[in-house]
Order: sequence, then structure tokens, then C-alpha cells
Amino acid sequence: MNPFTSEESQKLPNHVAIIMDGNGRWAQSRGKPRLFGHRNGVENVRSVVNTARELGIPYITLYAFSQENQNRPVAEKSGLMKLLEEFLKLELRSMMKDGIRLRAIGDLEGLPPFARKAVEETIEQTKENKDWNLTLALNYGSRQEVVAAVKSMLQRNDIDPESMDWQNFSEHLQTRDLPDPDLVIRTSGEFRLSNFLLLQAAYAEIFVSPLHWPEFDRGAFIGSLKDYIHRERRFGKTREQIASLT
Ligand code: IPE
Ligand code: IPE
Ligand code: MG
Repeated sequence: MNPFTSEESQKLPNHVAIIMDGNGRWAQSRGKPRLFGHRNGVENVRSVVNTARELGIPYITLYAFSQENQNRPVAEKSGLMKLLEEFLKLELRSMMKDGIRLRAIGDLEGLPPFARKAVEETIEQTKENKDWNLTLALNYGSRQEVVAAVKSMLQRNDIDPESMDWQNFSEHLQTRDLPDPDLVIRTSGEFRLSNFLLLQAAYAEIFVSPLHWPEFDRGAFIGSLKDYIHRERRFGKTREQIASLT
């Protein structure tokens, strides 16, 4: 059953970006290895993506692996990469059936070849899908994304510095095909962005859930959206200006 009235549904975010944090602590608090948490985290991805589709939220971006996560133990990293490959292989059929297009942001060259291949193949196979948009941030870092954009611009000689504004700068970011996130959710009670979409989230609403990612279920996701629809997004204007627009 849809928990939102049709008026509320109009106010739902177009793009939700999620920092899926707390898999390790969730597992450890149950006396299990961290990878058990990551495995349950993947299960939760399915549930949240299905809820987003059901509610009509067209863009979901998930922070799955940061560039800084490269500093984790080798066994944890390879476990995560195997889970990624397995997830993509298992989900391809339903992505095709449901019209989900997969994208990735981040430095894919820094992934192990088998994982990179699975990501690139799924992107290719789903590229004509138009109904829903799932983006995975893999070996992603916002600062590194900006530096890469500036580097590629400096290597060209057809860019007039005077014409540069945010609109055309943002065309050089990996998110060029995506609208800015309206809502950034972070699970596990941490109040930080950890190098995720720093520029794109300039005016995003932020919601921090105390729940660890594997336990951030449909009800918790809906709760974060209920919170979001009551926010007043002012984009630098006054309350009165915003009120006169509605
Ligand atoms: C999030 O959970 C998943 C990744 C960063 C890959 P963590 O692995 O960060 O779990 P905690 O924060 O250590 O509990
Ligand atoms: C952020 O979580 C990265 C992902 C969720 C993929 P981390 O667990 O790596 O963040 P910090 O280290 O607590 O800031
Ligand atoms: Mg963490």
C-alpha cells in the first residue's frame, strides 16, 4: 500500500543518494564477521530500490565503496567486490524487466578486473532502459572527481575560462547525466558526508538514521521520506518568497 497521499507523492524527492553505512558494526554486534554485514547490506539494496520504484522515485544513487575504502584489509575489499559481481549478475534479469538503467560513478580502473567487467557489462546491457536510474558510487571520491574534471578541462584548448560557470563545469563531472540529489540519507548515525557528492549535494536535504544499513528497512526509508516532504527548501531565499511561489 502506498503510504503517501497523492499530494504528498508530488513532494517526494526526484533523486535520493544514500551513504550505506554500518554493515560492519551491525554484523559485529551479532558476533558475526564484517562480511556477513555486507551480505545483508546487499539484500537491503534490493528492498530499498524496490520501494523507490513503488513510490515513483526515479533516481537512486548508492555509495557502495569509497576511494578511501581502498585502505581496508584486502580480504574485506575482495569480499565486497565478489558481492558486487554477484549482485549485478543476479539482478540483471530484473533490471531488464523493470527498465532500470545502471550507471556508475567513481574510478572504475581502481576496481579488480572481474568486478570492473561486471559493472561495465551491466551498464552496457541496461543503457537503453529508461524507467528507473540506479547509480552505484564505486571507488568514488568527490574530491578526486573534481580534480579529474579540472585535469581533463586543462588538457583541452577549446574552453574559454570566462564562459565557465557551475552549469558547464558540472558537465565535466561524472554525474553529468544525473539531477542533483534532493535527499542524502546516511545510516548508522554518523553526521558526515565522507567525500560523497560534495558539490552535487550543495542544496540536498540530509537525513541521518541511527539504524545500521542492513536494518534500514522499507519503514525506515519511508520515515526518512516523510521527514523530507515536510522540509522547507529555501535555496537562499526567504520563507515569504518560498510561500508566495506555492
Ligand atoms: C558500509 O558499512 C559499507 C562500506 C563502507 C563498504 P561499513 O563497512 O563502513 O560498516 P561500519 O561503518 O564499519 O560499521
Ligand atoms: C562511507 O562509509 C563510504 C560508504 C558507505 C561506501 P565509511 O564507513 O567508509 O565512512 P567513514 O570512514 O566512517 O567516514
Ligand atoms: Mg562505515
